[in-house]
Amino acid sequence: MGSATTQGQLWGARAQDFATYVEQLTLPLASAVLDAAHVTPSTRLLDAGCGAGLLAVLASFRGARVTALDASPQLVAIAQERLPKADIREGDLEALPFADAGFDAVTAVNSIFYAADMSAAMRELVRVVRSGGRVVVTAWGPPERCELLTALVSRIGPLMPTPPPGVSPPHPATLAEPGALAEVLQQAGLRIVDEGEVACPFVFPSTELSWRANASAGPNQMAIAHSGEAAVRAAFMEADREHTRPDGSVRYENVFLWVAGEKQS
Ligand SMILES: C[S@@+](CC[C@H](N)C(=O)[O-])C[C@H]1O[C@@H](n2cnc3c(N)ncnc32)[C@H](O)[C@@H]1O
Repeated sequence: MGSATTQGQLWGARAQDFATYVEQLTLPLASAVLDAAHVTPSTRLLDAGCGAGLLAVLASFRGARVTALDASPQLVAIAQERLPKADIREGDLEALPFADAGFDAVTAVNSIFYAADMSAAMRELVRVVRSGGRVVVTAWGPPERCELLTALVSRIGPLMPTPPPGVSPPHPATLAEPGALAEVLQQAGLRIVDEGEVACPFVFPSTELSWRANASAGPNQMAIAHSGEAAVRAAFMEADREHTRPDGSVRYENVFLWVAGEKQS
């Protein structure tokens, strides 16, 4: 078992809040990824690290045959409720429970960098796609263009546990360096065929809903477990103050990167 047990607990702790307040914030990214993956009617699609199932639902609207997987049983349950006929399972990105070459396209929206062994996760995405099929993977954009990521690193970073000696968890910002995300796909054996970026401003109607949303994210759950909810909430309040608009809503500007690779025969 890879990182799925730990990640599943972190992302599952407030699964309903994630589904209600977070996942739609990256709706423009999910749409761009479906286009980049060439998802059309009858595409056999795997969404790996599917969360509460937003991309899976959008893919089903296109007529795709949707399979999805996530580490969190609570998020999987929400996705299953939304798409009762789809194959949606609990599982690990680093050891996918699927046969070789069974999908026409594989998507992974903001999930691979949570796997303890990101290269192993990438190899799995490539293993299960057919020759000529596409794998589309996303990551946060550069920190200077991602206000929420910057706030997380500066304010929540100090509240996170120190990793054990010799362990250096992947930092989301490293994938935003020029060419870094494409390199991850190439290393896994894919030929890069397309790439792009999508703006996804995170807008919350109030600081209370900003907190409900942010507290549902796995890394913030880790900070809560380590430093206590009061400290993490206070750090978010500070960050929100700099992003609160006159009507009381809170807005963080962000961009996300996506890269599409094709499997060679
Ligand atoms: C930022 S959320 C993205 C969810 C979804 N793709 C979306 O865009 O709404 C990251 C997701 O990756 C899942 N995840 C993290 N590590 C995983 C692993 N090793 N195996 C399977 N899923 C994992 C988490 O449970 C979580 O649902």
